[in-house]
Amino acid sequence: MQSPCAEIQAQVRDRILEITINRPERKNALTMAMYSAMAELLNTAAANSEVRVVIISGAEGVFTSGNDLMDFLGGSASAADSPVFQFMVALYSFPKPVVAAVNGPAVGIGTTMLLHCDMAFAGSDAMFQMPFVNLGLCPEYASSFFLPRLAGHAKASELLLLGKKFGADEAVTLGICNAAVPADETLARARETAAELAAKAPEAVRLSKQLLRAGGYERGLAVMKEEGSHFQSRLTSEEFKEAATAFMEKRPADFSKFD
Ligand code: COA
Repeated sequence: MQSPCAEIQAQVRDRILEITINRPERKNALTMAMYSAMAELLNTAAANSEVRVVIISGAEGVFTSGNDLMDFLGGSASAADSPVFQFMVALYSFPKPVVAAVNGPAVGIGTTMLLHCDMAFAGSDAMFQMPFVNLGLCPEYASSFFLPRLAGHAKASELLLLGKKFGADEAVTLGICNAAVPADETLARARETAAELAAKAPEAVRLSKQLLRAGGYERGLAVMKEEGSHFQSRLTSEEFKEAATAFMEKRPADFSKFD
């Protein structure tokens, strides 16, 4: 399978599609073109019997620093018909197993997309963060629905309201990742697991994934849309402008003037 975008690499080997996020000069921050490419690859893989499992990882020791903040400043990032949303739905509804290999920063959607992968491995160098409130934004990708169910309300509030960073061991404790592994073994562990999944009866695997996801599926989708509409409004807020400008100017954001 050919990726339509150089910053998203795709390779099918032994019935496993490997998607690699590859924009190291921006810590693999995701642009609209990259979201579109990932959505297209997933939608094609869903219908392609040559693919039984997908691996998502990032190049050069970084999973992804999340959405490109310059794109966010452009404003259209989270609209219901945007590439971000197309990617979110493509992964959320993907009928075959997805295994993530996380090294380095996994920020914003870099963490929330793991809620929609089936298994994930965290390298000892992994750093997770959902800094939406720190950016004057709000939770996305149904994290406000799935995270409290996974981690409990108190922990979800700590992670989503304070935007605290956490490491591989905590990601395992929270139930976001399956195992913490040495940094240089992360992709190998994901490949091993993907190969194990790819060798199993494919229809049984797809049905079982569907059953595992069915309970929260419709509600999760509705929450994703509701969050998306708030998120979209927040992108034009003065609070977000202050946070994004502060990031670009490499200074702490100052929210003291807001009501
Ligand atoms: N969007 C746009 N540019 C980004 C980016 C993003 N999400 N994340 C990093 N970059 C850029 C930086 O501005 C920097 O550019 P420069 O070389 O022109 O100064 C370059 O990538 C390297 O990033 P840097 O911050 O120097 O790397 P680091 O290793 O010190 O930290 C991160 C890595 C990911 C922890 C840090 O870059 C970060 O917190 N990024 C923002 C994440 C974020 O808020 N994402 C949105 C979530 S909704």
